[in-house]
Amino acid sequence: MTSRRCCWRRPIAELGLLGVLLCSAAVPAQTPGAAEAVSIAVPLGLPPLPYPAHNPPTAAKIELGRKLFFDRRLSFNGTMSCAMCHVPEQGFTSNELQTPVGNEGASVRRNAPTLLDVAYHPRLFHDGRDGALETQVWGPLLAPDEMANPSVGHVLDRLRALPDYAGRFEAAFAGRGASADTVGEALASFERTLLSGDSRFDRYRYAGDPDALSAEEKLGYAVFIGSGRCAACHLIGERSALFSDFRYHNTGIGRLRGQSPRQVEIELAPGVSAPVSAATLRSIGAPPRSDLGRFEISLDPADRWAYKTPMLRDIARTAPYMHDGSLPTLEAVVAFYDRGGGGAPDQSPLIAPLGLSAAERAALVAFLKALDGRQPERDRSSAP
Ligand code: HEC
Ligand code: HEC
Repeated sequence: MTSRRCCWRRPIAELGLLGVLLCSAAVPAQTPGAAEAVSIAVPLGLPPLPYPAHNPPTAAKIELGRKLFFDRRLSFNGTMSCAMCHVPEQGFTSNELQTPVGNEGASVRRNAPTLLDVAYHPRLFHDGRDGALETQVWGPLLAPDEMANPSVGHVLDRLRALPDYAGRFEAAFAGRGASADTVGEALASFERTLLSGDSRFDRYRYAGDPDALSAEEKLGYAVFIGSGRCAACHLIGERSALFSDFRYHNTGIGRLRGQSPRQVEIELAPGVSAPVSAATLRSIGAPPRSDLGRFEISLDPADRWAYKTPMLRDIARTAPYMHDGSLPTLEAVVAFYDRGGGGAPDQSPLIAPLGLSAAERAALVAFLKALDGRQPERDRSSAP
């Protein structure tokens, strides 16, 4: 990947970014690396990187954000970091768990979304309850079932007492020390570097390489934008594709999960399960946590069980799927849509039985797998 407008460049491996080059927009006055804003070269298929005017990315902020992201000491009992639910080697989500485990084994209510390309989300969380990466970070830091800190001040006191953070905030933020704002700005700056693009689909669609997709993947693409109606919500643009309209839709899946089954299979040991009635289960366990999706934020009845349309880049690496992680594979997702979604009476009219052939379903899965980004360096974005 090459980039224009580069005044200085550090080896990617050294920065450990996902194949992203940091380029100073202006000639640096002194040693590169600290305060001057850098422009981040985005891979093929992605639009220019958005960031708020008050928080332009700089190398120092990004490095500090990376340190915070991997730092377990940011949780109340010193065990959880952001990277333990958003695992870099697992597509920045948790592949083994439908819903990740947080503080002291507490199960979180929803599936951890990938953080790849999260910079482009105008609103965050499955229900869109936060509007900026800078403020979003305080959600997990303070949630009792995630990092469980009792207050913002508690986190800041701890950071100020850690010797390896001494002077780091001041250096990255022109004298401003650790605060609710600077912690958010550093983490957000790091998250904006987690980019996935330049997939085989992008080379086919945006670089004019007719051989970048196989015949089966091309059929899958045709189904995606045609009879499958996927692109009605997972948008593909003329010059770039984010695969999301960033709106909230009821696919029927939330409503189905909300209905409690009369009998539940309980796994006693790997491969050994036994049926237990829902009444028995209720008498011994905690009740299932309700999840009404976007309605919890908007209080508009039309938003019940509606969730934000996820992007689909690197989707093969970010299983399991949907807000509750209830679909384990891409085959299961395609079968779900082919059936007409969850079949809830109030689900989106855009989701109805598709009647795809077995070959079309397989082609759709093959197409989704062609959305894997080409970032050979990406897994180096592990610990600082
Ligand atoms: C215990 C697991 C866990 C930890 C720790 C955790 N997250 Fe998350 N993260 C989640 C889950 C689950 C969601 C979705 C919650 C929801 O939508 O209600 C989420 C959502 C997000 C989102 C929104 C993504 C989107 O597509 O809207 C961002 C950004 C994010 N987390 C960043 C972070 C950062 C930064 C940290 C560390 C400060 C962190 N997370 C720590 C589990 C975790
Ligand atoms: C009405 C809009 C809409 C249409 C049409 C639609 N989707 Fe979705 N898609 C969504 C929403 C909303 C979600 C998230 C649902 C949730 O979190 O419970 C989603 C989730 C997904 C996911 C899981 C993503 C993840 O990270 O968990 C995949 C894969 C997917 N869709 C593929 C498809 C395919 C393939 C089609 C066409 C057959 C399609 N979608 C049609 C709105 C839509």
